[in-house]
Amino acid sequence: MKKIFNAMAVTAIAAGALMSANVYAGAEAKCAACHDFGSAHKVGPALGGIVGKPAGSTDFGGYSDSLKKGGWAWDEANLRKWLGDSNAAIKELSGDANATTKMPPQKLTDAQADEVIGFLKGK
Ligand code: HEC
Repeated sequence: MKKIFNAMAVTAIAAGALMSANVYAGAEAKCAACHDFGSAHKVGPALGGIVGKPAGSTDFGGYSDSLKKGGWAWDEANLRKWLGDSNAAIKELSGDANATTKMPPQKLTDAQADEVIGFLKGK
């Protein structure tokens, strides 16, 4: 009985360590390399509360000119485009055929994008 209890304690500690190291299970794991899901900026801007927010509206200092200018909101449809191909999305959303972004295309499928958007809604 004592052995079983010890094994359970070890499992619980391992699970706690995983959580505190911010290991994400879904496609959001890709985003975490460049983004914090709270209020900190990394290589990319903080993504806390991003669903519904105007594009380029955080105090992140590294925006491309095209994203900084903004002019659209990150609703679900726009996020889906962005997570599929950010190079195409920045041109479409800004209405500028020469617009560029610093975020490399993530090539998420619609299903992966929906999973990530669901995750971001809770942030
Ligand atoms: C290699 C780094 C990198 C990865 C990986 C990455 N991003 Fe980005 N992201 C950036 C950068 C850099 C910007 C700023 C782009 C610009 O200014 O043109 C950005 C911008 C954004 C924006 C616009 C934020 C705003 O304030 O308007 C959203 C939304 C976003 N990323 C979501 C994601 C999601 C979700 C993922 C994961 C599927 C992801 N990104 C993966 C680097 C990355």
